[in-house]
Amino acid sequence: MTEINFTFDGDGITATDGQSLAAALTGAGRREFRVTAQGSPRGIFCGMGVCQDCLVSVDGTPNRRACMTKAADGMTVETQHAFPELGTDSRLPETPRVRVLTPDVLVIGGGAGGLSATIAARRAGADVVTLDERTVEGGQYYKQSADGSLLDAQQAEGAGLVEDARASGAEIIRGVEIWGAFDGPLVLAERDGAALIVRPRTVIVATGAYERPIIVPGWTLPGVMTTGAAQTLWRSYRTLPGRRIVVCGSGPLNMQVALELADGGAEIALVAETAPSPFLHPLRGARLSIHGPALAWQGLAMLRSLRRRRVPVRNGLRLSAVEEVESGLSVTFRRKSGGTHTVQADSLCMNAGFEPQNEILRLLGARMTYDPAAGHLRCERSETLETSVPGIFAVGDCAGLGGAPAACAEGRIAGRSAAAQSGHGDAYDLFADQRALRRHRRFQKALWQLHDVSPTPVGGLPHDTILCRCEEITVGDALAGYAVTPGHLGTLKRATRVGMGRCQGRYCGPAAARLIVEHTGEALTDRSFFAPRVPVKPVAINAILAAEEALCSDD
Ligand code: FES
Repeated sequence: MTEINFTFDGDGITATDGQSLAAALTGAGRREFRVTAQGSPRGIFCGMGVCQDCLVSVDGTPNRRACMTKAADGMTVETQHAFPELGTDSRLPETPRVRVLTPDVLVIGGGAGGLSATIAARRAGADVVTLDERTVEGGQYYKQSADGSLLDAQQAEGAGLVEDARASGAEIIRGVEIWGAFDGPLVLAERDGAALIVRPRTVIVATGAYERPIIVPGWTLPGVMTTGAAQTLWRSYRTLPGRRIVVCGSGPLNMQVALELADGGAEIALVAETAPSPFLHPLRGARLSIHGPALAWQGLAMLRSLRRRRVPVRNGLRLSAVEEVESGLSVTFRRKSGGTHTVQADSLCMNAGFEPQNEILRLLGARMTYDPAAGHLRCERSETLETSVPGIFAVGDCAGLGGAPAACAEGRIAGRSAAAQSGHGDAYDLFADQRALRRHRRFQKALWQLHDVSPTPVGGLPHDTILCRCEEITVGDALAGYAVTPGHLGTLKRATRVGMGRCQGRYCGPAAARLIVEHTGEALTDRSFFAPRVPVKPVAINAILAAEEALCSDD
């Protein structure tokens, strides 16, 4: 492994070639990357390019996400302040390059579903372009390590899928930020300052999901991150998020990551699961083992491994507050049985389920329905996974949580179907893949019945709790804003700026929607949430201008 050196606020940092800036800085014990308008420090939170809280300035260019930027030898990295200096260079930036792509099938996303769709569509003979936001391959579930080493069977399985996709002949472009999707279909993106204009015949959206946070006082402190962010640090960059770690929330990922970090040498002070012990619900456990005996067995084995390593796993604990203390973080839970439990750590990982990354589907007009059991929107799809918009397919968690094995089966179905719609391959028998898909879905349903991802009512949170982490809007601000023009999410947004920050409401949006229904008593529907707006991710303005110029000269 090659060593590289760069500076952070003038201090020398040594890292491994291939590491992200976030991993290199975390490994060097630095966890404060930017300072907000109100003077609060922020660091890595989502670890996957969604929250925009890890912004740093790199070689004088502000707004670089440390989790998505590779560390390089000789870089000058600086803490980003709320209003970064833009320098005195008044020259117009160079007009970026424009590349136009016209594949039969455009796959958006390079995770389990996207790679499976890529392989299936290519095997059917279609010309395929796959765009992936990440620079490290495999998506959230199969994330590969930057140095090519394999940690376990999951990573090895992912390596096989990545290899098959590479060998398929599809053009796979990484580090792409998609900022717009329109009728046509027309997809606009940026890569390294260059504009990409994609006019495919069919589109398969496989953008996955991001983690649902637990909004409590202190959830924005550096050192508090999603469980997935901690997993990326370890699986992709072999960097531990801290030395003494608490993992909390609900769902199987928490247990898995706690075990991986313990094996990596971290001290896991506590794994706190909100739901009661699964052993109190033998019938639900039995259902799980009927629908997925191997995975149910894996879950039990994980629990036993944690016990063998003397990691305390406690059920019925709901996170209620995080505070900064001299030794790091003081993490408090409310016991279901009454009272509180406090534990000290230097890092806190949280995961309370997932939110689908469905902005591109919604921009394209795909019909959604609210799923009360999952607490999020599901995309309506046909048997072949085509959405309500002809030629637009949706696979994996972006269409509603289903897990990686289901995403793979869906990718195979949608890949073949999109290729057939573009005039490649014969109609094929969906039976085997659809049977596998039904089995995976039954397993997921049984799995989530053992967990509790219900959020704390927003109105029940202390009023100084940050609700919108980008705009630093508190619960009290939101309640006061709601009082101005009650009854509507749009007016709450206009009154408070909630949801108007760089993450575009991905974290506060669902909570703001719940705040409205808590007051109106109405049920959540597909119309309860913020509508996605272009650009769906922050990108350089000259890439947008270049795309516009190229499109106008086409007309
Ligand atoms: S931690 Fe980098 S964008 Fe969220």
